[in-house]
Amino acid sequence: MKIFIDSANLAEIKEAVSWGIIEGATTNPTLMAKEKNQSLKKISQEICRIVPGPVSLEGNASQAEEIIKEAKILAKIANNVVVKIPMTIEGIKAVIKLNKEGIKTNVTLVFSANQALIAAKAKATYVSPFLGRLDDIGQSGLLLIEEIKKIYKNYQFNTKIIAASIRNPDHVKQVALIGCDIATIPFKVLKQLYQHSLTDKGIALFQADWNKLKI
Ligand code: G3P
Repeated sequence: MKIFIDSANLAEIKEAVSWGIIEGATTNPTLMAKEKNQSLKKISQEICRIVPGPVSLEGNASQAEEIIKEAKILAKIANNVVVKIPMTIEGIKAVIKLNKEGIKTNVTLVFSANQALIAAKAKATYVSPFLGRLDDIGQSGLLLIEEIKKIYKNYQFNTKIIAASIRNPDHVKQVALIGCDIATIPFKVLKQLYQHSLTDKGIALFQADWNKLKI
């Protein structure tokens, strides 16, 4: 499973990339809006420069022709740009055209297996089911990922599944067990993946014993 960082914060992205395991990044307007007083274009360029892999950038157009125009502008920012497009009829019309023009897409705000089926039929490069937001309304985000995985396997679709809206380390473990292609993970959760209280306890004990050694 590939690991992407779900962030638009340059400090977080730089640090996570320095850990050596990041293979892409995803952003959205909410994440961008948290980065106050910075130009959207500059942040986007910088993320694309830092991240060794695809970077999903999202616009705000709603009609297919407008989405396509916006996607072409975003795609010019860097070679690793993937255009994030919401799951709507107009969005999917745009995905079909953009695919023919060689522009990579990530169909976002996906909450059902049928939406993911449509995204794959449109030959989206990626599909982003939102786990946490489904869990928030009492539905199972993990079940959705399993369903999408099965449907894509049944028909050998090439669209890659990005588990998004990940809220905790257990989400990461569960999507890895399912065999999801990619998990896009917020910085805080990424850090938690490295941690265990017994690791800390073990290090402290080894350190204390090390100090007793005669070298
Ligand atoms: O990248 C989009 C997605 O990960 C958003 O997550 O926590 O706002 O539901 P969240």
